Amino acid sequence: MVKMTGIRKKYDHEVLSIDSLTLQKGKIYGLIGPSGAGKSTLLRIINLLTPPDSGSLYFQGLSIPSNGAARLSLQRRMTLVFQKTHLFRETVWKNVAYGLQARNYSRIEIKIRVDKLLEQVGMKDLAYRRADTLSGGEAQRVAIARAVAFDPELLLLDEPTANLDPFNIELIENMIVKMNKSKSITVVIVTHNVFQARRIAGEVIFLDRGRVVETGPTEKIFTEPEQEKTRLYVEGRMIY
Ligand SMILES: Nc1ncnc2c1ncn2[C@@H]1O[C@H](COP(=O)(O)OP(=O)(O)OP(=O)(O)O)[C@@H](O)[C@H]1O
Ligand SMILES: [Mg+2]
Repeated sequence: MVKMTGIRKKYDHEVLSIDSLTLQKGKIYGLIGPSGAGKSTLLRIINLLTPPDSGSLYFQGLSIPSNGAARLSLQRRMTLVFQKTHLFRETVWKNVAYGLQARNYSRIEIKIRVDKLLEQVGMKDLAYRRADTLSGGEAQRVAIARAVAFDPELLLLDEPTANLDPFNIELIENMIVKMNKSKSITVVIVTHNVFQARRIAGEVIFLDRGRVVETGPTEKIFTEPEQEKTRLYVEGRMIY
């Protein structure tokens, strides 16, 4: 689905240096690592929001053009949800419908999709509430519904459940797993909670100081990691 080679990104210091990383279609990746490791930067590079200084990025075998319509059409096949959601000061329903209207779906198709999504995220009863009156957990559920409304092939989630209560965390985790299974959406979820990665990810990518320390099937990363650093991190014993 996504392949990257020789990706480098520097701000005041080198933030990312990834020799090679591949994301396979239909999998859920847990992207873990200490604060400042470069996780959000990596998501922004994959989503084409931030250009790397060098390196190549391929999306389903296609090299990503640096600008123009081709780039935009690739960007539309994926979606990034941030920890802090920015819903429009409109109803919940309109927030979820927005991306579909922008993509010229028919009115009837929009209605079917939005109603179904709101049902799935348990927000049907609040469909006509203004989004700026929602709780954090409700807002995040709407943000994810909005993000997946147009069937993206790749869903990038940057700490989607940080600061949420157990009820909303479980609901969102179930949603992610369900969407991945039913539509085989490829998911990358950044999380500081290694237990969350273990619960829902099939593969784990451990990033530290801009480098991929280790990547592999989740159970292997947690039970027999190859790198000592990985072991310390997943056991919560890493000293920064
Ligand atoms: N626009 C920017 N300008 C300058 N430095 C930046 C910029 N964006 C990120 N950085 C720096 O790049 C490094 C990696 O940041 P990034 O946000 O990717 O880390 P992260 O792994 O997502 O951390 P956290 O877990 O705290 O969200 C940090 O040192 C950060 O200060
Ligand atoms: Mg981050």
